[in-house]
Order: sequence, then C-alpha cells, then structure tokens
Amino acid sequence: MRRAVCPGSFDPVTRGHLDIIDRSSRLFDEVIVAVLVNQTKQGLFSIEERIEILREVTKNLPNVRIESFRGLLVDYCRDNDAQVVVKGIRAVSDFDYELQMAQMNIGLSGVETLFMPTNPLYSFVASSLVKEIAKWGGEVSSFVPELVERRLLEKYRDAGTD
Ligand code: PNS
Repeated sequence: MRRAVCPGSFDPVTRGHLDIIDRSSRLFDEVIVAVLVNQTKQGLFSIEERIEILREVTKNLPNVRIESFRGLLVDYCRDNDAQVVVKGIRAVSDFDYELQMAQMNIGLSGVETLFMPTNPLYSFVASSLVKEIAKWGGEVSSFVPELVERRLLEKYRDAGTD
C-alpha cells in the first residue's frame, strides 16, 4: 500500500490545494490530507470547519481521507505508515523553504517529499490572499471551491470587516 500525506493549514482549502490532492490521489493507493493543528496561530476557520470543508470537497475521491495532526509531520507519517509527503510548489519562492523542510524530514526519519508543480492556473493563489480579498468583498470564486466561497462570505458577514 503506497500512502502519501498532503499536509498543510488549509485555512481554507483553495483550488490549488485541491488540484494537488486530486493529482496525488491518482499516484498513490491512499492520500491523507493532514490539517496542522497550530496552537500558536489562530486561523479564520477552526480545525473542525477545515476538516468538514475538506471532506465535502474531496468526497468524489474515494482514496482520500482527511485528518488533523499536531507535532512533527515525520512522526505523523510514521504513525500512519505513509512513505511520502506531497507538496505543491507554486513558484521558485516556495522552493527554498520547502527544500529545507524536505531535507530536514528525510534526515529525521527517511520520509520522502515529492514536489508537485502547481497548476499554473493557481500559481499565485494562497489562502492568505483569498481571505484578504474575501474580507473586502472581492471575487474569489475562481480561486476556491464554491463551498469555501460561501463559508468565507458567511464568516465575514458575521464578523464585519473591522
Ligand atoms: O499550509 P502550510 O501552513 O504551508 O503547511 C505547513 C506544514 C503544516 C506542512 C508544516 O508547517 C509542517 O510540516 N508542520 C509540522 C511540524 C513539523 O514537522 N515541523 C518540522 C518541519 S522540518
């Protein structure tokens, strides 16, 4: 069984993330999308909301499951018998940090990292930018799934933009 992990914050999941998850699901027997629980960084969406959204938007991919994790990614991979981490690379600017993490992770535990070039349609898409655009009423429908667009609208309608 070849099992890969797609880790990230997914606050919220974008079409760029989804493209990587979808393509990974064709390469591996099973893909675990692992949402990082980061105690030092309060997100817009709770971990439960991110998981619920991810489950909904990946429900067409039967070999993809969604979980959360805390601690080291390499420990999570070991505990879940996953041999590979898949990371999307949007641009050269992603590469330095991703390479450093990949080298650290292989040094720590032998887990391999596979870099997957992001679909150029989404090479400039980042969750942080999407949130900022949505906060000020901008159009985000081409960057995120419809469900995420709706949830963003609800969040910012409830919270106001102050
Ligand atoms: O979506 P993000 O925020 O870019 O994802 C970053 C993530 C979750 C992949 C990365 O922060 C991570 O792997 N965190 C787990 C902690 C860890 O293993 N740190 C050591 C990395 S060498």
